[in-house]
Amino acid sequence: MKAEIDNRNESLADKQAFTEIFLTPQNNDTKVVLRKYMEQILFGLQDFLKKHVGITHEIPLEDLSCRFSNTLINRNPEKKLEQVFTELIEEIAPHAVNVASPYFIGHMTSAIPFFMVHLKTIVAALNQNIVKLETSKGASLVEKQVLAKIHRLIYCKSDTFYNTHVQNVHTALGAFTSDGTTANLMALWVARNALFAPKPGFEGVEKEGLTASYRFYGIGRAVVLVSRLGHYSLNKAGGILGIGNRNVIPVDVDSNNRMDIDALRRTIQAIKRSNGRTQILAIVGIAGATETGTIDPLRKLGEICALHNVHFHVDAAWGGPTLVSEKYRHLLDGIKLADSVSIDGHKQFYLPMSCGMVYFKNPFSMDTVAYYADYINRPGSADLGIKSIAGSREATSLILDSALKIMGTDGYARLIDHGIETAGQFAEEIRKRPLFQLITNPELNILTYRICSMEVQRKLASGGTEERKAINEGLNEINRVVQRLQRKAGRSFVSRTIIKMGATQEKEDIVVFRSVIMNPMTTIEILREVLDEQEEIYRRTFTSPVALYEYGRRIENGLPSDRIPSPGLHPEIIELDNCLN
Ligand SMILES: Cc1ncc(COP(=O)(O)O)c(C=O)c1O
Repeated sequence: MKAEIDNRNESLADKQAFTEIFLTPQNNDTKVVLRKYMEQILFGLQDFLKKHVGITHEIPLEDLSCRFSNTLINRNPEKKLEQVFTELIEEIAPHAVNVASPYFIGHMTSAIPFFMVHLKTIVAALNQNIVKLETSKGASLVEKQVLAKIHRLIYCKSDTFYNTHVQNVHTALGAFTSDGTTANLMALWVARNALFAPKPGFEGVEKEGLTASYRFYGIGRAVVLVSRLGHYSLNKAGGILGIGNRNVIPVDVDSNNRMDIDALRRTIQAIKRSNGRTQILAIVGIAGATETGTIDPLRKLGEICALHNVHFHVDAAWGGPTLVSEKYRHLLDGIKLADSVSIDGHKQFYLPMSCGMVYFKNPFSMDTVAYYADYINRPGSADLGIKSIAGSREATSLILDSALKIMGTDGYARLIDHGIETAGQFAEEIRKRPLFQLITNPELNILTYRICSMEVQRKLASGGTEERKAINEGLNEINRVVQRLQRKAGRSFVSRTIIKMGATQEKEDIVVFRSVIMNPMTTIEILREVLDEQEEIYRRTFTSPVALYEYGRRIENGLPSDRIPSPGLHPEIIELDNCLN
């Protein structure tokens, strides 16, 4: 009897706790805390970020990681909601990165319009699961509609085409994915299945696997051709799809960092000489290369693919939204010829993390990746999970559709135009400064440059191969150090990468600053400040007698920076070596 009463009390207590968590608003104290922060986040996002989130904080990563090393989960509640909330904002957020700062110009992640937070909150509150209609209904219809809208932006088909397919349960114009990586993977998955399609006596690669496919089709390998500036997600796709990532073959680029069409033709000819033993699974054109922002000659690539009957994929993860700009959409001329196109929503559609999309010219292309299950995704249903890499997923499409309504194509075009034009001004500024060398001109809104004074540039132009190599090695070290010191100072951030440079076959690796101008608050004045700071760091670090001496010693010894013994180095460099790369 006593046990029964206890059980009853327990379940009553549970019921009360469940009600508190799922149904009733929090108690008043908690509400006060939630309001205090949520109001700032919802109505003063930029101020909130400025106040609570650093670009990078003083504390070294190693020390910070010690704070997050307890791996036990408490059996009983450890903290109250208000404590957790306060801790998130006051202790964790300051060690996150304020990617919304206009001085943060190093990666493809930036400020988002404030209303994105509201939209994301609504999507979280609705908690729709787009895998099937039974858990999303209207949200799945909106998703099909927005897929058709973006498809139209890319392919500009007729009204009849879109009226036929917008809500057609048997066709698909594209799919939402978690990110650009999976969008590219999905495009190549579809291309692989089309290449090794079912035939009499063979049920297709998806069912029979790659070994059986190669045997049936009498080939030794399948390859993907992409400019050597292709994103590494394409290599991942090569691995995942079983063709092997070494068969994602880099094609050389021309002096403008666009895929070299002659080099592509030569590669195709070499493949043809294999008597069909090597098959081209896809040729990928990039619309906005990750490191340089350059756009491959899409029209020519499309024509070559049509000539050789090869799947043409355009990786427009970065540059796709340029299509909304009347002024600059011509840069993507030829994208319509693509069999598939990937675009990221969290890049230049300014959506919160994360949103990838892949589009197919042919509304039946995705049939080759359809999967069914008895409990969901039944044949003939309109469940969007049927043709999707993901299973359960949130209704990110609601955010994109709403944002398109709020901004219109003109609103987005202003952002795109601002980025391209500010990057142009930045390139001019770099050209004017005697300490810097512009390495890649911005075609969109990404450019690269390095510290390399006019005088050194002249030396590089007139010197022999060995001298040039030695100078470039020294410059690489200088640029690496300045980038790390600037990042560490935490006022601004420009990323760093390596660009291959040189007129001859034997290209040299050049360390460069990579700048991505996507934040509309980033102005040329701010960019001048970023350069000023780099100049200042350079002069402070490399022109003091100690620094110069130590630096000279490093170069003379030809030691790579990570193998230089620390004692005796310039204090700032020692400190740097203790930080992560
Ligand atoms: C051209 C290009 N493609 C694909 C990707 C991969 O996108 P994500 O990081 O969303 O997976 C990127 C990311 O920077 C990119 O620049």
